[in-house]
Amino acid sequence: MDYKLANLRGILKTQVLIIGGGPSGLLLSQVLMKAGIETIILEKQSRQYILNRIRAGVIEPNSVEVLKNAGIGDRIDAEGIKHQGTILSHDDHTIRIDFQKATKKAVTVYGQTEITKDLFKAQDNLNAKIFHGIKNIRVENLCEKSPRIIFDTETDEQKYIEADFIAGCDGFHGISRSWIPEKNLSVYENRYPFGWLGILSETPPVNDELIYSSSSSGFALASMRSSKLSRYYIQCDLETKPEDYTDDFFWLELKKRLPKKYSEKLITGPSIEKSIAPLRSFVVEPIQYGKLYLAGDAAHIVPPTGAKGLNLAISDIYYLSQAFITFYNDNEKTLLESYSQIALKRIWKTVRFSWWMTTLLHTFPNSSHFEKKIQSSEFFNLSESQYAMGALAENYVGLPY
Ligand code: APR
Ligand code: PHB
Repeated sequence: MDYKLANLRGILKTQVLIIGGGPSGLLLSQVLMKAGIETIILEKQSRQYILNRIRAGVIEPNSVEVLKNAGIGDRIDAEGIKHQGTILSHDDHTIRIDFQKATKKAVTVYGQTEITKDLFKAQDNLNAKIFHGIKNIRVENLCEKSPRIIFDTETDEQKYIEADFIAGCDGFHGISRSWIPEKNLSVYENRYPFGWLGILSETPPVNDELIYSSSSSGFALASMRSSKLSRYYIQCDLETKPEDYTDDFFWLELKKRLPKKYSEKLITGPSIEKSIAPLRSFVVEPIQYGKLYLAGDAAHIVPPTGAKGLNLAISDIYYLSQAFITFYNDNEKTLLESYSQIALKRIWKTVRFSWWMTTLLHTFPNSSHFEKKIQSSEFFNLSESQYAMGALAENYVGLPY
């Protein structure tokens, strides 16, 4: 039955049913709708809740291109800050990685929250169907022609939707990954023995480029959202909570961990947000099963060192949307059938890079004298080798699709 006709008769039907309205789900819906493919998004939380989440903010040029093609490039162009390089430090030794020189590319600093805002606005303009506050979502007929999702609305009304395909974009804590039978799924995981305590403060950033700093007191990152808004992180104990840290303690610790030439000019102020994130690398294989396709954090997690989480979600959506578009436009299934294989190749390269940067820059509680020596030696190798710096730059600006 025609989708529009079916919907008119009260049977909810769509072509691609998307679970999760974070950046992955919203972007997938936006790209597909622009290509004339029908979507419905089912999201557990309210829009306000999603827009209040503070996440990373470094966007690869590939990602900017995908966002622009999806029709949400205007604000990134106007407000995003182009960064041609970044600073890495080990105590008071600093290296500048020159992205421009090594790759002729730059990254853009633009918050994920802003991207989500832009995506919601673009989806509203297309009259996208987004259900918020949905509960008790379950699936039937996942391996048949028309899989079906059953769920309760915000007002406890039970509904079901039939679709051609289901996209699992419901993040790390979502439900869709569990619909792949355990015997069909391989899980790869590495938990790091620390977290990141992050704060936002209405103070000018300490430097015009990001500083990834390793020190004997632990890792720190100086980042930003604008010329008036700073985002700083310090490596912290996993057992602690944000309330355990006063602003004064945070600023003291940050000063200790940044190279002296930066800490001397650090401007401090009250924090306007404070949160802790654990660090983890996590990948499942495959990321498709029957009519289900996983993308973004539902399929993988990387530690934030290198800012790859959102960029990886965007590359998944690039591959997945191309696969759906060639299926619907040309009746060509090859891309859909190889989505998992194609996307995972780039996912693993990015997982490796985030793991490597994390290992290079953090203090590991149980590391041996030997491991500590290798860590400094890795840093000095980087500082003396154009090739090593080039490899870092190539990965940081994003590997090609
Ligand atoms: N039903 C419906 N929605 C759900 C469910 C569920 N059972 N479980 C989770 N969700 C929703 C969450 O509320 C969230 O809004 O799915 C959405 C997933 O969004 P994200 O966690 O932001 O994941 P994703 O869209 O893949 O974005 C990846 O976010 O975590 C960062 O570093 C990551 O930047 C990357 C980006
Ligand atoms: C951030 O600005 O939040 C940020 C930047 C770079 C990272 C991680 C987080 O690697």
